[in-house]
Amino acid sequence: MSNMDEAVERVLVSEKEIRAMVERLGRQISKDYEGKPLVVLGVLKGGFVFMADLIRSITIPLELDFIAVSSYGASTKSSGVVQLIKDADVVLTGKHVLIVEDIIDSGLTLSYLKNMLEAREPLSVKICTAFDKPDRRKVTLTADYSGITIPDEYVVGYGLDYNSQMRNIPSLCVLKRDVYEAK
Ligand code: IMP
Ligand code: MG
Repeated sequence: MSNMDEAVERVLVSEKEIRAMVERLGRQISKDYEGKPLVVLGVLKGGFVFMADLIRSITIPLELDFIAVSSYGASTKSSGVVQLIKDADVVLTGKHVLIVEDIIDSGLTLSYLKNMLEAREPLSVKICTAFDKPDRRKVTLTADYSGITIPDEYVVGYGLDYNSQMRNIPSLCVLKRDVYEAK
């Protein structure tokens, strides 16, 4: 992709709206986990931009770690197959785990991850997502902390990619249909 502007249809969620959303979630999480041992677990790669912003709006002590999964390959549709590429390093026993994701689409990735982590018997496993496309769910899954609900469109920016590109766009943008329909 040579020109990001040419691939983008429009801005769906502005930087300002994203900032307000991150502050709201950070405040709520700080309140809910006050005095509790908290591990914030970011899902790579998409979740890393949101994760970096979110932890700085959380005002209570926390441990941070990442897991890496792959579910999409180079397509814009979920394959339904979740591959764990990097596991968590920190001990989860006796701690509350908060998974931080960029977006929930079919819900397959997070239901797999939630089950996997719950099997390790931490005190709790909850989900925080920046964006949510509830219309596309294939499994029953609701985020405990949800940033902004968006319509069923393929989006890029704020950590989300198309073909490994465009994660560095600061706002959330709708990808032009002809960009991926030409594939
Ligand atoms: P799910 O398993 O279908 O819920 O998909 C979750 C993952 O798919 C997210 O972590 C994203 O990496 C990716 N994804 C889902 N929708 C989009 C999108 O609109 N743009 C970019 N990536 C997406
Ligand atoms: Mg992802």
